[in-house]
Amino acid sequence: MRAVIAPEPGGPEALVLAELPEPTAGPGEVVIDVTATAVNRADTMQRRGLYPPPPGASQILGLECSGVVGAVGPGVEGWATGDEGCALLAGGGYAEKVLVPSGQVMPVPVGVDLVSAGALPEVACTVWSNVFMIAGLQREETLLVHGGAGGIGTFAIQLAHALGARVIATAGSPEKLELCRSLGADVAVSYREQDFVEEVRTATDGAGADVILDNMGAKYLPRNVEALALEGRLVVIGMQGGSKVELDLGLLMRRRGAVIATSLRARPPAEKAAICASVVEHVWPLVADGSVRTLVHTTLPLEKVAEAHRAMEAGDHTGKIVVTT
Ligand SMILES: NC(=O)c1ccc[n+]([C@@H]2O[C@H](COP(=O)([O-])OP(=O)(O)OC[C@H]3O[C@@H](n4cnc5c(N)ncnc54)[C@H](OP(=O)(O)O)[C@@H]3O)[C@@H](O)[C@H]2O)c1
Repeated sequence: MRAVIAPEPGGPEALVLAELPEPTAGPGEVVIDVTATAVNRADTMQRRGLYPPPPGASQILGLECSGVVGAVGPGVEGWATGDEGCALLAGGGYAEKVLVPSGQVMPVPVGVDLVSAGALPEVACTVWSNVFMIAGLQREETLLVHGGAGGIGTFAIQLAHALGARVIATAGSPEKLELCRSLGADVAVSYREQDFVEEVRTATDGAGADVILDNMGAKYLPRNVEALALEGRLVVIGMQGGSKVELDLGLLMRRRGAVIATSLRARPPAEKAAICASVVEHVWPLVADGSVRTLVHTTLPLEKVAEAHRAMEAGDHTGKIVVTT
């Protein structure tokens, strides 16, 4: 089968479309004939040699996919050859076939085409698990989403809005700020021209944000803690602004706040399966009724995967960059 690997660390040109052996399904596993996958920041970091796959995971890039079940291993229930689905992967999505534990395969939500579904698992599972399962965002609470126009951000704004929370989003250009508003953000803040701490205080009558979904890491940690409400929960899921910083714990203590940092990829299959089941139960109905949709910026074929990585690293995109096999 054709599959994309990064044998030597480097730029997008380091990606190699190789001919590799097809996987076979073991107990509890299915093989998916991949229709589409999507680019994640983790893929670009893996390509650069900065984010090796977890032990036992495929060297083939790709953390999500959609497609048709091509083979089912012993003991798998609920999936049969020919079923359409989409899956959260530890790796292996940039290929014509991928092996995945059956608990990480989800049905395609009603009304979503199979290509767009390839861009759903990573954003849906990341946003649902972090903002709702871990940080417990409630109706009427305020969520601050950094990078509101990106793949994760566009999904987080829509989901929180659909579930009755107030949303403040940051973005880097007037067009992206407008997109955040159109998706349901009550307030959109330019991270280039405005101070988000001040804007959050103004928008919440001084109370602060109950939950913050952060992609910046070190660069924003002290200011995120300042922007938290009493008993606020800050969830760090990215380190685009570095990983090391000094924090005044007194400030966090006065807020009685929590700082949580998580990575979805490294979680064991049983935890991923629990997240997928919860996503299917709580998120898919909102996708099916149109309250939350996948924003696909562009779709490129597997041969142009380097172009897809260049597009993500250029940062001009909104939503997801999809790659079809
Ligand atoms: N921990 C996990 O399990 C997990 C899972 C999935 C993703 N992630 C992380 O989540 C983050 C977003 O992923 P993605 O797929 O949505 O990537 P993406 O589409 O490339 O989005 C990146 C976002 O970063 C924003 N950004 C850049 N500089 C910023 C700044 N100074 N302040 C605020 N925002 C800034 C960009 O905003 P503009 O475009 O407006 O400039 C863009 O919205 C990444 O860091 C990724 O690694 C983590």
